[in-house]
Amino acid sequence: MIGLKIPKKRADEVRRILLEYSLIDRQFKIKRSDDFVFIPLIKKLDAEKIKELGFASFEIIETEFESHPKEPRSLKDYLKNKISSDKIIEIKKSFDIIGDVVILEVTEELEDEKYLIGKAALDFTKRRTVFKKNSNIKGVIRTRELEYLAGKDESETIHTEYGSRLMIDVRKVYFSPRLATERERITNQVNDGETIIDMFTGVGPFSIAIARNRMVEIYAIDINPDAIYYLEKNIQLNKIHGKIIPILGDVKEVLNVKDIIADRIIMNLPGTAYLFLESAINCLKEGGVLHYYEFSRDYDKPIERVRTASGPREVKVLDKRRVKSRSPGVWHIGLDIMIT
Ligand SMILES: C[S@@+](CC[C@H](N)C(=O)[O-])C[C@H]1O[C@@H](n2cnc3c(N)ncnc32)[C@H](O)[C@@H]1O
Repeated sequence: MIGLKIPKKRADEVRRILLEYSLIDRQFKIKRSDDFVFIPLIKKLDAEKIKELGFASFEIIETEFESHPKEPRSLKDYLKNKISSDKIIEIKKSFDIIGDVVILEVTEELEDEKYLIGKAALDFTKRRTVFKKNSNIKGVIRTRELEYLAGKDESETIHTEYGSRLMIDVRKVYFSPRLATERERITNQVNDGETIIDMFTGVGPFSIAIARNRMVEIYAIDINPDAIYYLEKNIQLNKIHGKIIPILGDVKEVLNVKDIIADRIIMNLPGTAYLFLESAINCLKEGGVLHYYEFSRDYDKPIERVRTASGPREVKVLDKRRVKSRSPGVWHIGLDIMIT
């Protein structure tokens, strides 16, 4: 097996970096000698990665690691001996992990057991903090109420997705790890040299992913000052090739005064993005691409809205997909649309 040999006094720091990049093979146990710690890796690191992580002075070795005893596969499994079996059915299977923070749902029936569930989630996921969802995502800045359940009551964390490092305060800004694949999909469509508007940027996960991989100029706009604060942090945290210009404000007002003509516009505000379609299309070049999102049961309604807002311009749907489920029968729909 492949392992990284690290002098004992650097082990904690290196382990944290490897965890952030999901490079540790968690099926196996870390082992120690008097002076060194040996960490099992999921793959051999290439020279560029070693340099990027600052690991050039460490040795990569072939060695054996002892495997961990089989662990429970879900939080439900984990709670089997702690909560009565009739109640276990109420435990929601899925929860979100954002960096060191776990966010889960506890049904009303389990209200009395919420701290037990929180502690179990903390131990099971080995993260720092567990919060319970106390409301849906709401309001202009799209945040939710969170109740502290276990671990340290800290809501700021760093989340890693496809190599982007994103600092987020889960109480103050919107972020969904469930959009990671969508961001990767959009990033792969971008070409060097493009001008892009990320109309509802949040902490900038689309902008950061794109500018880490492409030489582009991105106007990243959000109305939430905390989102722009973290976007600025995230620009510093990542190696950006292109340029991101953070702008605090209402996107309609910003686009009214700034003269931006874009090759591509990202509109990830699925509840009300339709209200901003005309402003967006006015800033889109001939043959530019709109990534438009809407909560909808079907594709027809969102496509029709784009057609109406485009007036005489020609609309070509390049792709349509269900990004994730919103509620029974309703989807977070994604459209890639070229407008000429
Ligand atoms: C659903 S979040 C998306 C954030 C980000 N694109 C992401 O994928 O994580 C929508 C964002 O739009 C921002 N927003 C809402 N209305 C806005 C407006 N009129 N102008 C600019 N930003 C707005 C909110 O503050 C929020 O951060």
